[in-house]
Amino acid sequence: MRLKSSLIACTLLATAVMVLEGNAAVAAPTRYEAEVAPATCTGTIDSNHTGYSGTGFCNGDNAVGAAAQFTVNAPAAGTATLGIRFANGTTTARPADVVVNGSRVTGVSFEGTGAWTTWVTATLTLSVNSGSNTVRLSPTTAGGLPNTDYLDFEVTGDPVGGNGRPNDPNIQYYGRWKTSDPAYYAMGWAGGYLEARFTGSSIGVRQRNTIDLYYSIDQAPIQWRRNVSGNITLASGLTGSSHTIRIGYRERAGSYTGDPVFGGLILANGAQTTSIGRPTSLVEFIGDSITVGQPNANRPFTAYPWLAAEALGAAHTQVAQGGACLVSRDCYGMMDWFRRSSNSATYDDWNFSTYQATAVVINLGTNDVGHGVSTTQFQQGYITMLARVRQAYPNAEIFAMGVFRNRYVTETRNAVAARNAAGDTRVHFVDTAGWVNPATDTSDNVHPTDAGHAKIAQRLRPILDQYI
Ligand code: GCU
Ligand code: CA
Repeated sequence: MRLKSSLIACTLLATAVMVLEGNAAVAAPTRYEAEVAPATCTGTIDSNHTGYSGTGFCNGDNAVGAAAQFTVNAPAAGTATLGIRFANGTTTARPADVVVNGSRVTGVSFEGTGAWTTWVTATLTLSVNSGSNTVRLSPTTAGGLPNTDYLDFEVTGDPVGGNGRPNDPNIQYYGRWKTSDPAYYAMGWAGGYLEARFTGSSIGVRQRNTIDLYYSIDQAPIQWRRNVSGNITLASGLTGSSHTIRIGYRERAGSYTGDPVFGGLILANGAQTTSIGRPTSLVEFIGDSITVGQPNANRPFTAYPWLAAEALGAAHTQVAQGGACLVSRDCYGMMDWFRRSSNSATYDDWNFSTYQATAVVINLGTNDVGHGVSTTQFQQGYITMLARVRQAYPNAEIFAMGVFRNRYVTETRNAVAARNAAGDTRVHFVDTAGWVNPATDTSDNVHPTDAGHAKIAQRLRPILDQYI
């Protein structure tokens, strides 16, 4: 009898130990090696310095933006602990932006470790979404990254509620936002927007000076509030535990001098923001008034860039300005201006590691004719532009659209061919012949109507879909 019960006790104990081990295994971090896809390395996978794990490490190019990217899977949204194993055989620290799901969330500096064979782990804590997340380490100095071995990843805490202020990490921004004034984040180009998830039965937004804003709650059709300022209630009496909101602004351009800034969400008493996902793809559209959606009433959100990207489930930006050209010849030359943080800040270069585009679509050339840009200048300018876009977005698919008015189309095609011949095979010419009938699809022979934009989006979408 006694023997039997002690046998049972033994069995129970063994089971208990096994369960404990099982739990420990679940709680352990998951290791993502830098040399295993879908991880990417802007450089080479090397194995010449011993001590690494797996089959090698990422030796990033010694350049700003030469990133190592990991794709990690989170069982739930929350706070994650990241261990980045690296070696830096120099005596100079190598700083990098930490870009999560396309947004810079923090910085990290990889100090010298004494030797390329001495590997250490840097630990970071940050918020992640449930499911797939990208974590990109993007160096901010010409030294590039240290050699990077792996990323250990584990969700270690509950999601953190936010207060809705502009710097609330639960708010996701799309487009180029100037964040230097913590009270009001400023939208730099047309078509910028932000998204958040929030609890509570009402939602509002804090504005500064008069602006036309558009918004959508729980993905309902977009609505306008025109000429508003101060504290604006957007919805009340909401039921259900949480909701999503998207807010964007009319761009400041020409005679329109509205104030496109975001001063924070106004949450109900006791309510908070919680994390919201970002699409894995982001399409950046560079162009002129057609890309902005001028002069149509709904501007960006009934224009083809917005429509095509939304149909693909991708995020989008419209780095575009009415009247813009490709070449800066007495004109807003986007080959220069696309590198800036807004359409008014001549000397304010954009930090491209804030987000990376999956695809860039260029539609330029409609206005250059009026500024006397020769075909030779245009083609040279376009080649330069394509090279600059590549520099800004090392991994993007780049699309150069023939403009609808059939201007410089041969030169656009030649510029793409030149870049292809130079080894950049991810640059594509988009033949738009026959897409737009000026008589029926435009309001003035140039600008597509809403229906015209919808038609263009329908033609463009399957082309982008092949690549993103
Ligand atoms: C050396 C070293 C590389 C390292 C590089 C660097 O060449 O062998 O592994 O990546 O320096 O400075 O980044
Ligand atoms: Ca290196």
